[in-house]
Amino acid sequence: MKVVRSRLDVTGRTSRPMRGALYMPTTVDVFSKARTHERVAQLQAAREIDAVPYFRRLESAAAPVVEMEGRRRIMLGSNNYLGLTNDERVVQGALDAVHRYGTGVTGSRLLNGTLDLHLELERELADWLGTEDALVFTTGHQANLGALGTLLEPGDTVVVDSGDHASILDGVLLSRAKLRAFRHGRLDLLEKRLEQAARDGGGILVVVDGVFSMEGDVAPLNEIADLCARFGARLMVDEAHGLGVLGARGAGASELLGVEERVDLRMATFSKSLASCGGVIAGPADVIDFLRIQSRPFLFTASGVPAAVGAALAAVRICRSEEGRALFARVLENARYLNEGLRALGLHVVEPVALPDGTRVATPIVPVLVADDWKAALLWKALYEQGVYVNVALHPAVPPGGALLRTSVMATHDRATLDEALAAFARVKRAFESEHGPLPSGA
Ligand SMILES: Cc1ncc(COP(=O)(O)O)c(C=O)c1O
Repeated sequence: MKVVRSRLDVTGRTSRPMRGALYMPTTVDVFSKARTHERVAQLQAAREIDAVPYFRRLESAAAPVVEMEGRRRIMLGSNNYLGLTNDERVVQGALDAVHRYGTGVTGSRLLNGTLDLHLELERELADWLGTEDALVFTTGHQANLGALGTLLEPGDTVVVDSGDHASILDGVLLSRAKLRAFRHGRLDLLEKRLEQAARDGGGILVVVDGVFSMEGDVAPLNEIADLCARFGARLMVDEAHGLGVLGARGAGASELLGVEERVDLRMATFSKSLASCGGVIAGPADVIDFLRIQSRPFLFTASGVPAAVGAALAAVRICRSEEGRALFARVLENARYLNEGLRALGLHVVEPVALPDGTRVATPIVPVLVADDWKAALLWKALYEQGVYVNVALHPAVPPGGALLRTSVMATHDRATLDEALAAFARVKRAFESEHGPLPSGA
């Protein structure tokens, strides 16, 4: 007696059972992982004392001070680095787009979903980044998926930093290329991975975040580009947290470190400094054109809604104006101020990894090491009750035992608000340590 299980073919239809075969019901429930995963107990305990830092309810616009779950809270957990989500020109950009094009495009870029606004934004982004062409995706996550999943194929090797964003790993999974990861920031290990990749026999792509989203440090792009050149590898940089912040033009870590010409492909998102939602891949015209006709996460989804594209375009224009420079400077000054303030309280602020020439580049991300997951949740709750919202990063967003309070600033935070937040940190630290013992100090 033959026992077979039904299979899905690629069209989604169930394939026909073989003649004479009997079906046995499976004993494996695909839902069981939802009930028994490793964090069920921890999540339950955190819910019981209302200490889950995630999915909290925001009741106002993203701004330095927000209304959250019924009260005023200082926002130190946003990626709205330039504070442009409330800027009247950006809001007007969204409104004008809605009035002209309506609320949605109801189709993919391939068919009825390409507006002249998408094309205008692509031209503006390519011009800003100094690349031949650019392609706008509906989200940043899809931009990474769409570039990596299309350019790489089984037989190729992709080398990533262990701190790279999840969307990069998802793109690699989609491509089924061989993944070789090196420990965050370790160029010696990158070199080893490239040696291994050279023996794999296919094409090689190195992908790194320009600014790492949790640690806030800048990738040593010069040295990475040197290694890529030595091994004939292509280099792609995710500028999600660098665009609109770093470099004189605000074009990101690649500009700041003077490697724009040596980076083959640049990715960025509109969901941080550009105060909107969407993503972009910028690079050589032929490669972008290939993505335009081949990239499934680009082709098989609805295109960015007019409001998102109109807002992003207005934000790009502000970044490219004289005002842009002042905003880039202000967000970094605020980051330095918060960094020094938190360190003065005796907290362990994760210092940006120094570049090989010894420079440490400030970014809007100021992470505080707590190490223990549970303590991070309790600290988060204490801060929340004191009117300060921060992000909490736990494994796998950070290495095991590396729980962080990930704080971040906007250009629009004023000193009085940052001082108020620092005073809340001081009170919380004092009370927390008297009950639970010392927090990591970084000393
Ligand atoms: C480094 C990095 N890359 C990509 C993304 C994905 O961008 P989006 O939120 O626009 O999908 C993010 C967002 O968190 C990010 O931090």
